[in-house]
Amino acid sequence: MQNPITVAILGVVAERSAFGRLKGRQLESLGMRKRRRQFHAVRSAKLGSTSPPRRRKTSLILVFISAWLMLGCGGPQSTLDPAGRGAEQITELFWWSVAVNLLIWLFVIGLAVYATWAQPGGHRHRKANLLIIGGGAVFPTLVLTVYLIYGLALLPGLLAPAPEGSLQIAVLGEQWWWRVRYHPQGGEPVELANEIRLPVGKPVDLFLASPDVIHSLWIPSLTGKMDMIPGRVNRLTLEATKTGVYRGICAEYCGSAHALMKFDVVVMEPDAFAAWLEHQAQPASMPQRAEARGRELFLIHGCSACHTVRGTPAEGKVGPDLTHVGSRVSLGAGILPNEPAAFLRWIAHTEAVKPGVHMPAFGMLPRKDLQALAVFLEGLE
Ligand code: CUA
Repeated sequence: MQNPITVAILGVVAERSAFGRLKGRQLESLGMRKRRRQFHAVRSAKLGSTSPPRRRKTSLILVFISAWLMLGCGGPQSTLDPAGRGAEQITELFWWSVAVNLLIWLFVIGLAVYATWAQPGGHRHRKANLLIIGGGAVFPTLVLTVYLIYGLALLPGLLAPAPEGSLQIAVLGEQWWWRVRYHPQGGEPVELANEIRLPVGKPVDLFLASPDVIHSLWIPSLTGKMDMIPGRVNRLTLEATKTGVYRGICAEYCGSAHALMKFDVVVMEPDAFAAWLEHQAQPASMPQRAEARGRELFLIHGCSACHTVRGTPAEGKVGPDLTHVGSRVSLGAGILPNEPAAFLRWIAHTEAVKPGVHMPAFGMLPRKDLQALAVFLEGLE
């Protein structure tokens, strides 16, 4: 936010400063007050009466743009609206640095304004050198050292693993979606995709990996980001402090659909979470009559070669597990609403919806077949 305002103020200061130097010699013999009065009179005559309002207008527009940008600091995908322990600490660090930077900024702007009015050559070289060495080298070194110590002191808390017996979730970055596997204590792993649900107030360990390219998992509302690197497993511990639905994104360029690689994070009360996980472990329910046709089409058109729907012969492992896909918040890795019309669009036009996606489009199927498929998938709750 400070930059546009700095640009506006320094523009005004530079203009005044240049004009002041121009007139300085002519006005040298006059007293300070008289000189200032004359300065303003000459300036108004030179610049005309339209210049100051125009400058003020530009400054106002810049301030409004900055304020508008600051509105992006809330919502389901913002570190500055924290809903997790890690994000709370990062937010605190951010606001401290904003406060300190604001003070430094005010001081620098104060100096710039002072330079406009100061007598040219009014300061000794020794003083100027002291300002350059003190303000340009010693002071920044001190401030950055304090930031460094503050930041390093946060790391042990942010990197500490969850206590023994905590929930463990493996998340794999795929091209371009998220494979999510819950490992409940004493239970079988439960696989789903493109959605992570968490119990509020409980620390959770995420184990992050990738089979091919580097991704980075970032849930800004909950904690900082962590890379997913082929050949190694990174641990990211997080603890959600507020229930709600948050947004996760891939924060490392990973290919053509990188910007369309998102997911939802649903933070629930612990009881509701336990019931949800138990339901996710179940196979898909038997389809009703309306969905039976879609199930048949799903199997004959080869969808089962890539996708698993537990409780049916579909056991493909290449694409996302669809056993309970109808219960998820969104489709296509966080880019479409979860509703039949969006399902139909996704199946028929995968490449148009997510350029670069590996799933072929099935737009050649008759519309009623696409509708039947959408109804079947939407019914997998
Ligand atoms: Cu995955 Cu960017």
